[in-house]
Amino acid sequence: MSAPTESHQPLAVHTAALVKNYGRGDNLVQALKSVDFEARCGELLMIVGPSGCGKTTLLSVICGTLGYDSGSAAIFGRDLASMSSAQLTAFRGRNVGFIFQQFNLIPSWTALENVSVPLLLNGVGRAKAEKASAALLAEVGLQDKLKVRPGQLSGGQQQRVAIARAIVHEPRLLICDEPTAALDAASGRKVLELLKQRACRPDRCVIIVTHDSRIFSFADRIAEMEDGQIKAVHGTGDTQKLYV
Ligand SMILES: Nc1ncnc2c1ncn2[C@@H]1O[C@H](COP(=O)(O)OP(=O)(O)OP(=O)(O)O)[C@@H](O)[C@H]1O
Ligand SMILES: [Mg+2]
Repeated sequence: MSAPTESHQPLAVHTAALVKNYGRGDNLVQALKSVDFEARCGELLMIVGPSGCGKTTLLSVICGTLGYDSGSAAIFGRDLASMSSAQLTAFRGRNVGFIFQQFNLIPSWTALENVSVPLLLNGVGRAKAEKASAALLAEVGLQDKLKVRPGQLSGGQQQRVAIARAIVHEPRLLICDEPTAALDAASGRKVLELLKQRACRPDRCVIIVTHDSRIFSFADRIAEMEDGQIKAVHGTGDTQKLYV
């Protein structure tokens, strides 16, 4: 992937000749066909492309929840293949936040309990974890919903709980799959402002898959995917052509 950026920031994510196939024989799907991808610390990078082109697959490989067939993938210079599954789980728990396309909230837990999970997993005490989680839920406009379970929340509210859960432990890498799909324009902008605030630190990176052209202006760079490959990368000020 060519990178129209002057940034000399360290690499947050790097993949080279990354290949991921699903199934075999007649059912073989080549979801990633030799993907060279990089995202740098300090940037908010968006990935766009038609349904089925491999966006979620790429995110899943990057965050270490999905294996791959060949090539390489590294986060903050750590080759994913060099880590055991226990090491990868611990590394991911400390360094990566993930907003899933399907929110993946735990249905029997309240919003506050759902958001607290990453902090509890990182050894933070319950009282401190819940205080930080409540503050973040208030930041995304859900101060009245702390004790409510996901089933009683609207799609947009569930999405905001998922966003709070992904950033509560201040991950160095935040990976978001369609984070504004269920949000109205004003809530979407608010969420992007929050994410941008986290991304603009020199040691952190945010990668967002989106179809939502209303938020393109928040990106530092936009990578276009097509049919399992990165087709082009656009720098800041070069995104107008993506609105068509
Ligand atoms: N578990 C799976 N088993 C088999 N094929 C899969 C699986 N997951 C995804 N695929 C296929 O891999 C390709 C890429 O899927 P992926 O979910 O990465 O697309 P996407 O770009 O995220 O699409 P969307 O915008 O609809 O979310 C598609 O052809 C899809 O059908
Ligand atoms: Mg997807």
